Amino acid sequence: AFPKEIKVEGKSYKTDEWMNTPDSILAAIPRRLHLQPNHPITITRKLIESRFPGYKTHNELFPIVTTGQNFDSLGFPLDHIGRSRTDTYYLNKDTVLRTHTSAHQADTFRNNESEGYLISADVYRRDAIDRSHYPVFHQMEGARTWDRQHADREGKTLAQMIWDDVDKIPKHDVAVEDPNPPFHAERNPLQATHSPEETEAMAAHLKRSLEDMVVTIFNAAKSATDTDAASENEPLKVRWVEAYFPFTSPSWELEVFWQGDWLEVLGSGIVSQPILNKASVPDRVGWAFGIGLERIAMLLYSIPDIRLFWSKDTRFLSQFSEEKPIRRFVPFSKYPACFKDVSFWLRSSSSAAGGAAAIHPPATPAAAPAAAAPAPTTTDSPTSTQTQFSDPPPDHARLAATHSASPPPPSSAAAPPPTTGMSGTASNATSPTPPPAAVTAPATPMPPAWSSSFHENDVMEIAREVCGDLVEDVRLTDEFMHPKTGRRSMCYRINYRSLERTLTNEETNQLHERLRSLLVDRLGVELR
Ligand code: PHE
Repeated sequence: AFPKEIKVEGKSYKTDEWMNTPDSILAAIPRRLHLQPNHPITITRKLIESRFPGYKTHNELFPIVTTGQNFDSLGFPLDHIGRSRTDTYYLNKDTVLRTHTSAHQADTFRNNESEGYLISADVYRRDAIDRSHYPVFHQMEGARTWDRQHADREGKTLAQMIWDDVDKIPKHDVAVEDPNPPFHAERNPLQATHSPEETEAMAAHLKRSLEDMVVTIFNAAKSATDTDAASENEPLKVRWVEAYFPFTSPSWELEVFWQGDWLEVLGSGIVSQPILNKASVPDRVGWAFGIGLERIAMLLYSIPDIRLFWSKDTRFLSQFSEEKPIRRFVPFSKYPACFKDVSFWLRSSSSAAGGAAAIHPPATPAAAPAAAAPAPTTTDSPTSTQTQFSDPPPDHARLAATHSASPPPPSSAAAPPPTTGMSGTASNATSPTPPPAAVTAPATPMPPAWSSSFHENDVMEIAREVCGDLVEDVRLTDEFMHPKTGRRSMCYRINYRSLERTLTNEETNQLHERLRSLLVDRLGVELR
């Protein structure tokens, strides 16, 4: 039921069987929250930008990109879960709504306009529904590179030149835990093209720069939220943990101890050299990071629900000002929640909830033979729902950085990990649930399982389509298999609540009825 061609801000795109982007998502494109004056996302962006003087900012890059930009240029393997239609919005086989700002790394390196850059933008991911997840959010990407030739001309080693720059970064006095070595042959390898000295110097520059930024943010948040003397005394703590991304090695995440929990704040690492080589800047080396702006803004202002960023209600918008110091958001009255359950049987061929994402669209006649091949099945994989994220407490938006995370699960205990991030196999990142070790990375792309698989993100999307921002969260409350027929039953609890008014009974009943019938129409489930 998608049009054959769609137009977005004057550009047209032919759609094909990969198209899965609803109008409601396309409608978010013109909003550009990160550019709206006095919007909390803008204020957060500017606060971060202020810690990177001299870095060139790119804040108007168009969100529709090629799979080449979003995945291939970054070394994502063909079977990476991030490429699946259950996780990513496609317009056609080669065209997606960017899932991260890293989609612009290669192009920005190729333009070679500055040693450092920052890219802020809206990014899009199919995902669960709750107070910290929204299918459109904002990220900032940052990178800093150095030119080997430049070091030669100065008569310095590259490592010396980088260390000179480390000395220019402002000092802070926050406690940093960094228990791991700067690189580790198995867990977090250095790249063949980089010496240990160079990697250490870049790692030091990366860590000092990002610590400076994060300390600035959290001190601002602290002064906005501290109410009693007790919390004032709790000193800020940060720590570095090893991470995995297909496009950096070694890689790290930075975590901050905030109100009793360690929170992932950003993903980062040494840029995979093949990216720079292919971008025609083989003499450059450097680091990159990605940070989710909603999560930071939610912490800064104590904003309790990610939908609020999209609100046009002056009771929300009037509370933020670029001129004034950051003050805690004062929630306007909370309107009543209305919970309704929907239970259904999956089609008998369907896999369990979160059955691994299908990388391919429905089998086409041409692709049909592959379906018969004894390719690895993924039906009992744990949920891949927004594999990229950690599991934030509801009061905090996700890191929203992170096509990341744990190194690719080795196929056997003896298998060596990839030598560079570029050769990594599919990895499911820091996931809402612990990294699903069972997700296999077949050597060939997965079979076209789409037509028979059930994915929770499809339920989420239907809920978004029917309810817009009137749905607060959608949770699986029950799941079982019929002992005789083997059919699976799922029960989801929908929490209907507006941030701006009280919903009437009639209204929620109508929403729920529409939701039920769309589940049948789109997913072929049988209501119970
Ligand atoms: N793009 C990554 C994400 O969205 C974050 C990242 C950026 C990690 C740059 C490393 C370097 O998950």
